[in-house]
Formats: sequence, C-alpha cells, structure tokens
Amino acid sequence: MKFSKDFLFGAASASYQVEGAWNEDGKGVSNWDVFSKIDGKTYQETNGDVAVDHYHRYKEDIALMAEMGLESYRFSISWTRIYPNGDGELNQKGLDFYNNVINECLKYNIIPFVTLYHWDLPQELEINGGWTNERTLKAFQQYADTCFKAFGDRVKHWITFNETVIFSRHGYIFGAHPPGILNDFKNYYQVLHNVFLTHAKVVLNFKDSGYQGDIGITHVFSPAFPADDKESSKKAAEHANMFDTFLYYDPILKGTYPEYVLNQLKEKGYAFELSQEDQEILLKAAPLNDFIGINYYQPMRVIANDSNTSREITRESSTGGAGAVSYDGVYQTVKVPDHSYTKWGWEISPEALLDGMHLLKNEYGNIPIYITENGLGDEDPIVEGEIKDAARIDYIEKHLKFVKKGISEGLNIKGYFAWSVIDLLSWLNGYKKQYGFIYVDHKDHLNRKKKDSFYWYQEVIATRGENL
Ligand code: BG6
Repeated sequence: MKFSKDFLFGAASASYQVEGAWNEDGKGVSNWDVFSKIDGKTYQETNGDVAVDHYHRYKEDIALMAEMGLESYRFSISWTRIYPNGDGELNQKGLDFYNNVINECLKYNIIPFVTLYHWDLPQELEINGGWTNERTLKAFQQYADTCFKAFGDRVKHWITFNETVIFSRHGYIFGAHPPGILNDFKNYYQVLHNVFLTHAKVVLNFKDSGYQGDIGITHVFSPAFPADDKESSKKAAEHANMFDTFLYYDPILKGTYPEYVLNQLKEKGYAFELSQEDQEILLKAAPLNDFIGINYYQPMRVIANDSNTSREITRESSTGGAGAVSYDGVYQTVKVPDHSYTKWGWEISPEALLDGMHLLKNEYGNIPIYITENGLGDEDPIVEGEIKDAARIDYIEKHLKFVKKGISEGLNIKGYFAWSVIDLLSWLNGYKKQYGFIYVDHKDHLNRKKKDSFYWYQEVIATRGENL
C-alpha cells in the first residue's frame, strides 16, 4: 500500500532551536535567551544565540528540504521577532523574515505548517508573570491575529501551541525551563488552563474572522500502559492517562476537563480558576478543531509509587527517560526488560503509538491527526566523514509502518512530521543529542551535510512509502 497523495510527509523544527540571530533585526529578548545563560541550566551551557544559524541560511536549508522531497515544513515563529516586547510595537523585519521563509517554501511547493508558540516567550511578558498574567493571554491573541493577517494568504495550517504540558510542567514544577520555578502545582494547573483558554479564543477568532485554513494545537503524546498485571499498576496507568493525556486533550477536543482530575485538584488544593465564561469558550471552540497534532516519542509503562518516594529533579531526570517517579508522586515509569530504549532511556515502541491513537479515537472519535513530531535522538556515528544514522532510519521506518497500519485500520492520520529536519539545539541536551536528516558541523562553520537518513526519507517520499 502507498500513502495517499493527500498524506503529508514532513519534518519539523522550532525557532529557538534553529534560528540563532537572537538579537538581530529588531528581535526582542525571549525567556530562553535569558534562561539558557543561567549557569547549569543547559547542557554544557549551550544556548540558541547562534543555534544552527537557520536565520541566515534558511535558503540553503529549504533547498535541502526540497531536494529531500519534503512536502511540508513545520517551523515555529519567534514571537519576539514580531513583537519584541510581546505586545506594543510591531517589528517589520520580523514579518519580513517569515515572509521570506514562507515564500521560499512555496517556491518548492513545500507546505508551510506554522507553530505560533514553541516555548520562546517574550522576556518582557515572562518577568511580568508569563502565562499566569492576563496580559500574556491578551498579547498572544494579538500576536496570533497579526500572523494570520500577515501570512494567512499563504499559510493554511496553523498550530497554536506546542506541548503546553511540557513548558508548563518544566517551568513551574521541575524548574528546568523558564521561569525555572520548583513545585508550584497551583500555578502549573492554572497555566495549563490559561493556555487552553487562549488557544480556544485564538481558534474562535480565526474562524469568526473568516481566515481560511486549518488550525489546531500540538500536544505531547505519551499514553500510559500498566507495566505488569497488578491491579495497582492498572490503576496507576488509569491515573497517568487522566493526568497525562486526558487533562490536555479533553479541553481541546471536548471543551471540558475530566471530572476525575478536577476532583483530585480540589482535594489537593490545586484547583484552578475556571469561570462559567471560560467553560463556555472552551466548549464553543472544541468542536471547531480541524486537527490535533501529536508529538509521539515514547509511551509510559507504569506502576504505582507505593514507596511514596518523591521525584529527585535534575536536568537529566527532567528530560523524559523511563524510570522516574511521576511529577505528582502517584506513579512511576519503569523500564521493561526486553523492550528497546534509546541512549537517553526513551522506549522505542511504534506499537504503543498505534494503540495510543486508537485510545484517542475511542475517546474523541475519528479526529484528523497529524503526527507533528516523532524521531530518534542519538549521537550519530560518523564513519569516514559519512553520517551513518542507521538507527534513525530503523526508528522512523518502524513508526511509519505503524502509521500505515493505523490508516488501514481506519484512523484519520493526515501526515507525519519527523523531528527534526536538521540537527538542532536540544533544549536541555545541547548538540549532543541529534535528531536531523541533515547534519550540522559545529567544528566547521556549521556546514550542512546529508545523512544516510536524508536519502532514505527521500526514497520513502518519492515512493509514497510503498516499500514500508
Ligand atoms: C519535543 C519538543 O518535546 O521534544 C522539541 O517539541 C524537542 O522541541 C523534542 O526538541 C526532543 O526533546 P529532546 O529533549 O530530546 O531534545
């Protein structure tokens, strides 16, 4: 079977991780520009000041994407290039840059798939309370509308937010992302709600203003499964799915929050403010969703945390490997013997992606799904100057096979974006952890080089996955 011609084969990036040019052409300072320069916050003090210099090399990079046969490029807009302070003055040079990127994509018939927020919040908003402050919520709506007006004649696919749960949890519980706060559960849940509400308002504005195209949100997707047959593990998995899947998918796809979660938050004193008006807005926006974006890397295999151990937070332990106590202390993820894992301890399980998508279908109906991220973080072997990333080929091949299977089982999967199109800055793992089809030589002027996976993906796209 071939993938249909409407199915999009793509690859993704995010502004802070690729662009560099952190203070050029009127760009304002983002929270990551500041946070990454605090001692010990990132791997070997890496930051995105230069990143892989996509800002200056986007033409070369997009030409490589075209050579690979990419049908869509998912990238994010840096809010501080458009509004240097988050709101207030607009920066024309920022608009120019993204106009150029979009036009360059279209020159090669690459569909621009645009994320409005991939974590780089204007610092001016961050220091004034970030996503806990109404000003940020309003500013985002204005920024989104500016983007729709400026780019909407050519951009027909919009993602409002990338992985709300990750930036909120890392920002307010783990202290591993800005604003670097530890264990503030109350604000964590409040921020989630504030972001979902903002998403809903942006979606409603998009529809009501008559902009043409599809708009959705991208969530991390780590479905939980009991690690063994124990009743306590089954319960732990149910709890994990409530707090680690349905809590984020429900407000977007149903317009409500799971009762189970709301009750527990009330008991624990973490209930967030949820007015009648908010609930109506969520409900009104929910059925309008054109698609859900899912970022899938690994499932969770869980058992109950009987020992009541709390989570020890380090930069490493916050980056997602199996074998940690959950952020709320209720369950633990464990490694399962004879399952395979990446060098960073992330389980490789294309089966769980398929099972997870069926779980979504059961819960929300056959919603259109884009897999907006999936890929292997590795230290790629270089043999006589060639990048032999066979492990990445194997990983993506396995996942694409299961995507194909999902489609044949009736799932409404509209496209697949590998993470990442090019090697880029990992937020907490620097350049050590690579994901791209294109290698960047940090010892030689950031020169680009095609990896083995580049040619492999090129073939997959050219044959529409017939041989998978
Ligand atoms: C996703 C993010 O959560 O995971 C990406 O959307 C990120 O921005 C990717 O790079 C991989 O994470 P890491 O920690 O392995 O670099």
